[in-house]
This record gives sequence, structure tokens and C-alpha cells, in this order.
Amino acid sequence: MKLPDVLIPPPLKKPHKPGTDNGRNGADPLAPVKDAPADLVGWLDERTGGASFLTGMLYRKVPKGTNWFYTLGSATLFAFVVQATTGVFLAMYYDPSPTQAYASVTHLTNDVFLGEFVRGMHKWGASVMIILIYLHMARTFIFGAYKYPRELNWIIGVTLLILTMIMGFTGYLLPFDQRSFWATVVGVNINGTGPFIGPYLSDFLRAGAEFNAATLPRFYAIHMLLVPGLIIALIGAHLYLVVKLGTTAPPWLHPKRTKTTVREERV
Ligand code: HEM
Repeated sequence: MKLPDVLIPPPLKKPHKPGTDNGRNGADPLAPVKDAPADLVGWLDERTGGASFLTGMLYRKVPKGTNWFYTLGSATLFAFVVQATTGVFLAMYYDPSPTQAYASVTHLTNDVFLGEFVRGMHKWGASVMIILIYLHMARTFIFGAYKYPRELNWIIGVTLLILTMIMGFTGYLLPFDQRSFWATVVGVNINGTGPFIGPYLSDFLRAGAEFNAATLPRFYAIHMLLVPGLIIALIGAHLYLVVKLGTTAPPWLHPKRTKTTVREERV
């Protein structure tokens, strides 16, 4: 019996041969320009295999019940990227010497094009990132995502939280006005009261037994080189584990365990 025409699939198209005009036979002179982005992605993919990694990451399966609370991690990541980007522009004008720091920040705020805006973004963005990181931690805690096999990702997360707070602490001194100076004196003294390592920690932060000319450059180096480097590396490890282990389903969707099934599993 002959099948009706609608059920017969059309013949397969010949695949695109690299370096040709994709069967258009020169009909569209702009074809090479239009294909350029796809060609570039193909070129990179052939040499790095990056596309399969990206596809794996973007199209990975997520558990049923995934909801808006699962976006808090990505929101924290976005806040970090904003801080890193605005920080680069602030660093172009900032001078970390105790005699010039305050004047360089005033100049940036009052005279530089969009300076006040970028500084405001960085200042408010710091609070946004801290709020988001706490909300993200609360989500993973409440959903039980710290349990096996994700303990290591929780530990990496705690380290990220501490590093983010160090960013806030070291960044606060940089405007070098009265408030930031005295608040940092208090903060460093509080650090000094910690058990065992406390006094060493405050000596390290001050670059000596008292605040001195080397303190501000030290805070600046920690704020813009040491800690961001660590955060970037740890976010990489954190996301690698998220993709590898998948995310945790909401607790209300976990299958109920009865006493008998647990005992059977143990046996
Ligand atoms: C710079 C800071 C951080 C960034 C950029 C970040 C990013 C992310 C992202 C994008 C995810 C996957 C999506 C999601 O579940 O929201 C995730 C998952 C996770 N994060 Fe974070 N995170 C950070 C800090 C933390 C902190 C402070 C903790 C806890 C102390 C934490 C613990 C976890 C855990 C346990 C998961 C797995 C969630 C699951 O299996 O459902 N993260 N993180």
C-alpha cells in the first residue's frame, strides 16, 4: 500500500561541507559573513571540545520541583562578576598610598566620567553579594544539599562565604576616610582577640604591631589580588561539583523511607 504523501519524510539535506558556501552557489554574497560566528564557534570547538562541556552544563538534567530558590547561586555568581568588573575600573584610578588614597577616591567620585556611578555599583554590589550568598546558603541548608555526596561542595561554600566577608572587610578601609580607618582599627583588634592565631592575624593585617604606611597597600593587595584569585578558583571547583553531582531535589519530593526499607538496605 502506498503511504499518503504527508507521512513520507522529505529527503535528508546534504550536510554543510566546511569551506563551501553551504549549497547557496554564490546566491548570497554575505553568506560567509553570516556564517562567520558559527564557523568561529566550530573552529574553537574542534580544538578545545568546549562546546560539549558547555552543552553538558547548560542542558544538564535538573530534579523535578526545581524552583526560583535554585537561582540564588547563579545570582551570587552574577553579583561577583559585577564586583570584579566594576573593581577593575576603580583600580584604574585608585592609589593605595596612605597620603593619596583619599584624594584618588575623591577625584574618581567627583571628576571621572561615571566614576560615582561605578563606585556606587561596587559599594552597593558588595552588600547585594553578601545578602545573596547568605540566602543561597540558607537554600542549600534548608533543602539538605549539604548531605552526602555534597559535603565537599558545602565546605567549599563555607570557604567562599569567609572569603566574601574578607572582601567586605578589606574593601572597607580603601576609601581611607575617618570612618573606614577607625572601623578597620576596631575590626583588626577584634581579630586579635581570637584564640591562638588571633594576634598573628592582626599583625599580618596591619603589616606590623601598629597601623603603618604598609597597612593600606597590604589591604589593597589582599582585596584585589589574593582573595579574588582564591574566590575564582573555588567558584570553578564549586560549579564543577554542581555539574558533576547534580542538584538536590526539594525535600518534599524525597521518597519516604520507612523503617523496613532502611533495615532491608542495611542488610
Ligand atoms: C561566591 C559564592 C557562591 C557562588 C557563586 C555559588 C554558586 C552556586 C551555584 C551556581 C550553584 C548551583 C545552583 C544553585 O543550587 O543555586 C550552587 C550550588 C551549591 N552551593 Fe553555592 N555558591 C556560592 C557560595 C556557597 C555557600 C556560601 C554555600 C554554603 C555554605 C554553598 C553551597 C552550595 C551547595 C551545597 C550547592 C549544591 C546545591 C544542590 O545540590 O542543590 N555555596 N552554588
